[in-house]
Amino acid sequence: MPLVDMKDMLGHTFRERYAVGAFDLVSLDFLEAIVAGAEARCAPVILSLAESHFEYYDFELTMAATAAAARRASVPVAIHLDHGASSESVARAINLGCNGVMVDASSVPFESNVTTTCAVVQIAHACGVPVEGELGYVAGVEGEDAEKHPGKVVYTSAEESCAYVERTGVDFLAVSIGTVHGRMRGAPKLDFERLARINEVLHIPLVIHGGTGLSDDQYHKLIENGTAKINYYTALADAAAGRMRVNMLRDSRAGYTGLMNGVRGAIQAEVERMIQVFGGANRAEAVLAAARRFNPVEHVIVYNVNGIEDTQVENIMARGREVLARIPGVRRVVTGWAVSEEPKYRFCWLVEFASQSVIDSYRDHPDHVAFANQWFRSAAGDRVSIDFAHVTQVPASVA
Ligand code: 13P
Repeated sequence: MPLVDMKDMLGHTFRERYAVGAFDLVSLDFLEAIVAGAEARCAPVILSLAESHFEYYDFELTMAATAAAARRASVPVAIHLDHGASSESVARAINLGCNGVMVDASSVPFESNVTTTCAVVQIAHACGVPVEGELGYVAGVEGEDAEKHPGKVVYTSAEESCAYVERTGVDFLAVSIGTVHGRMRGAPKLDFERLARINEVLHIPLVIHGGTGLSDDQYHKLIENGTAKINYYTALADAAAGRMRVNMLRDSRAGYTGLMNGVRGAIQAEVERMIQVFGGANRAEAVLAAARRFNPVEHVIVYNVNGIEDTQVENIMARGREVLARIPGVRRVVTGWAVSEEPKYRFCWLVEFASQSVIDSYRDHPDHVAFANQWFRSAAGDRVSIDFAHVTQVPASVA
């Protein structure tokens, strides 16, 4: 049921001073465990898919499962592209079902970061999808020992972050204040004064990457200073791997299911622990009340054609299926022929938009304009075109 607008979700989090866990998933076990953990704690949750992990799973197939899990969940959910590398990856992620995206151009100079981020913001906002940008650089690699990937941590400057947010229009900002991705040796030192300054000048939800391995007190101080989303992965991966090692020791001849036994439970326990620490438990109902649903819209056209053969109709449909499906915010393009003998309309287009915002951006997109002008409009005869919002609950007007 409740895929919710991520900006509304984090707006609530930011106002009420708690954080939503953005848990990176790398398999169905992670997906099921994260949703089960959020449901057990009645908490909003962000299902996060990091582009750097795409070599470990099929993004398209995993997104289908993630979207299904979000629809089925009893708690408010957002689906987020983590560490998106380019405008192309962001558009693909939105078309596959993400309703929040991060663009990570944090390793390039300020001006290039601004240019890349602006391009992403333009695409995502036209689809009704909020954007997380990053300024400064959080070193390390998720799931590994941080010292193996020392990198050069670049702390976020409050002055630069003001200019960055103003020029790019990002909705949330990931900041670098001393955390690293992956396992850290020793206690991390965080620059809370810097975070407080950034929060004071920006006043938008802030994001912390490298969430694993901090003390409860550090998490609380992050939240007190404007952190609304905490990215968390390594500890979940370690919990899963730890359970597999135990299974292996218990039975060195264990097969796949034997090795995976209890892995989901181990991940879920860690998710629940962090939800509790982040203050997200029992917030689901309040977020559902405060956040708009993020529902797709079906753009439906039924039509007849004027003076062209059926083979030409199919050619036009095939071209449309290819060209239109690539427009940002288009989830699916289906073309159809009437089944009955004497239908009022013989053909249809069903174009699923990610959200209501896509109605306008699709209409004006140059690829749609070119296709409609060169191919569709001259061939189409009488037609009816209506946009329907997918309804996941009875509208108030008829309840
Ligand atoms: P950890 O793996 O250190 O928890 O960080 C996760 C993260 O920041 C994903 O973007």
